[in-house]
Amino acid sequence: MANILDRFKETVEEKKEALTGKKVKVGIIGTGWIAEAHVANYLKCKDVEIVAAADLIPGKAEKFCKANGIESVHLYPDHKSMIDAEELDAVSVCTYNKTHAECTIYALEHGVNVLLEKPMCVTLEEAVAICKAEKASGKILSIGFQPRFDPNMQMLKKIVQSGELGKIYYIQTGGGRRRGIPTPYGTSFIEEKTAGLGALGDIGCYSLDMVLNAIGYPKPLSVSGYTSAFFGTDPAYYPNHPEYADVFTVDDFAAAFIRLEGDIVLDFRISWAMNLDTPGDTIILGTKGGLRVPSTECWNGSIGGPLKIYKTVAGEEIEYEVDMKHDDVDNFYKKIRLFIDAVKENGAAPVPSSQIIYNQAIIDGIAKSARLGKEITLDIPEI
Ligand SMILES: NC(=O)c1ccc[n+]([C@@H]2O[C@H](COP(=O)([O-])OP(=O)(O)OC[C@H]3O[C@@H](n4cnc5c(N)ncnc54)[C@H](O)[C@@H]3O)[C@@H](O)[C@H]2O)c1
Repeated sequence: MANILDRFKETVEEKKEALTGKKVKVGIIGTGWIAEAHVANYLKCKDVEIVAAADLIPGKAEKFCKANGIESVHLYPDHKSMIDAEELDAVSVCTYNKTHAECTIYALEHGVNVLLEKPMCVTLEEAVAICKAEKASGKILSIGFQPRFDPNMQMLKKIVQSGELGKIYYIQTGGGRRRGIPTPYGTSFIEEKTAGLGALGDIGCYSLDMVLNAIGYPKPLSVSGYTSAFFGTDPAYYPNHPEYADVFTVDDFAAAFIRLEGDIVLDFRISWAMNLDTPGDTIILGTKGGLRVPSTECWNGSIGGPLKIYKTVAGEEIEYEVDMKHDDVDNFYKKIRLFIDAVKENGAAPVPSSQIIYNQAIIDGIAKSARLGKEITLDIPEI
């Protein structure tokens, strides 16, 4: 993973294509907003053929395919009919969160590799069922966390893993938006029946992945969580759509205190809407150094500025910034390309479920703890 960028310099795409000469047949499940990015990036892969697309809403898949230059693909009214009828190598699950588990499990059970959008699903129980289906199938399941492929995100992990900060014992992470409930394309993000989770799942999963991936994904042990929905349920929030307040049935803010294996604590907060610009930077405290990751206005898994390191050197307290890194390859393209490479080589999933199940356990634990109003112990079965 550390040398991922070098691999791209060698035009991996052409090398892999030459390996088999076979096109990977892909189907798209859910033709909403994010499916556009999947299609655009699959189309950049010469060794991929998008052969089918499915959506529950009549006419939506057809309109989507025409608009995205794939009008010749076969269309289906749901994931099952598509998987049953086609000989697919892989699917992208681009549905709202509430149907992630059923689509992913059905695909895996039918021998199809899966690129599943984030968050992995809604509950820990669903995540466990997904991981069991993956194990039984022997197929590849990768979860769609494209910020993982950002060179600054990789630098963060490199610094922590190098031991430069010593033993990590405290992390503060999260972030969010002052006003940013995602309703530009309707209500699928704000209704419990489709999204299942609000800010907690939508952008909380990114900030959790940033720090958990950096420290090597230790097992979460317990969670004390809080969620609220003061903005989403207020008709005044949506001057053009006051009716959205009636269907808002998820969280727009969440906070939690999480204990991780290795005596590490994680202080978390995430917001789609609040009366503040940011609830703070991400900070990682270690026995030999501290690290600050500047927050961003729109928390979507990106890094807001140079990482800052705090250390004591020769008895002096010093601080220095790590230069921001850039490369010319889009993170979303890397997510798609590495998934296809894994499918072709039967390699390891670029973002494995064995890690993201812990991310999901924390998210589900926060939701459950918030409902109960007390700390809960996380019971994550071995798969
Ligand atoms: N990685 C990213 O940067 C990123 C960005 C935005 C959204 N997402 C994730 O992508 C997912 C989809 O988001 P969106 O904005 O595209 O949602 P959306 O509501 O625009 O589209 C989802 C579509 O899935 C369809 N669908 C649901 N269940 C289905 C099924 N069983 N079979 C076929 N179609 C089905 C719905 O009818 C809908 O058209 C969410 O989980 C979201 O968190 C990821």
